[in-house]
Amino acid sequence: MTNSNTNLTDTIDMDEISTRLAKLAQTPEQFRKINTFMKRRTHMNQNAELALIDTRFAHIILNHCGEVGKLGDVSALTDLRQFFADTPNGTDAPLTLEIGFGMGDSLFEMASNQPERNFIGIEVHEPGIGRLAFMADEASLSNLKVINGDAIALLDNLPDNHLDTVQLYFPDPWQKKRHYKRRFVTQDRMQKVARVLKPAGTFHAATDWEHYAFWMLEVLDNMPEFINTAGAGQFTPRPAFRPQTKFEKRGLTHGHGVWDLIYQKA
Ligand SMILES: C[S@@+](CC[C@H](N)C(=O)[O-])C[C@H]1O[C@@H](n2cnc3c(N)ncnc32)[C@H](O)[C@@H]1O
Repeated sequence: MTNSNTNLTDTIDMDEISTRLAKLAQTPEQFRKINTFMKRRTHMNQNAELALIDTRFAHIILNHCGEVGKLGDVSALTDLRQFFADTPNGTDAPLTLEIGFGMGDSLFEMASNQPERNFIGIEVHEPGIGRLAFMADEASLSNLKVINGDAIALLDNLPDNHLDTVQLYFPDPWQKKRHYKRRFVTQDRMQKVARVLKPAGTFHAATDWEHYAFWMLEVLDNMPEFINTAGAGQFTPRPAFRPQTKFEKRGLTHGHGVWDLIYQKA
């Protein structure tokens, strides 16, 4: 089921969403220290581990540290465009940052399908970081780079008006009320995204979690920094250029809907 309108089901209480968001907005200082991720321990295949350890992959993993088990240090990453200086696209090609690419298949597909654009993915999940770096190397993709680390810290390091697109596909839904503050889409975090986007740049989110879909709509429609390209209060039909992600497929097998939201920086 794909939803492109705002017909609420009985399960969504918009007043409750507004109240929760208002509460979060009053405590930005505490809230900034809260992670949007939980590091998961899952099996890592040999190729992924090789990519994390072998410095041969340092041209793809921008903060390659040669070790496994560490959250990457993003403090030196203050200009993402320069990493494409020696590639055919160069530094001025449109640049997309994907936050939380998981195992990386959909980002790999996007970068393969759009060779004229540059792509950078940031993740904290090492099996995914290593896997995507290995795949990019094997396919000799010069327009795809990977970062190991927390996207919030990275956003804080980047200059204003740096990126053409930021995409956030199937972010952790943090379903329990006490965990809502960990959701990536909040006014505080989205102000960071808005700052690094170029004027008229794009923020594209998708989720299979209905409550989070309406939560995102409530946050973003109320920010002067963003214009909903589908019209206020509306979701966007799933665009053909967005490949299905692993979490999306999993959601669909559980009977979830899928909601896309595309905003332009005002
Ligand atoms: C539910 S998974 C979705 C993965 C993938 N986008 C997909 O659809 O298959 C969300 C991912 O976001 C990552 N993540 C959450 N917060 C992050 C952050 N602040 N920086 C980098 N990655 C983050 C998590 O590690 C996790 O792998």
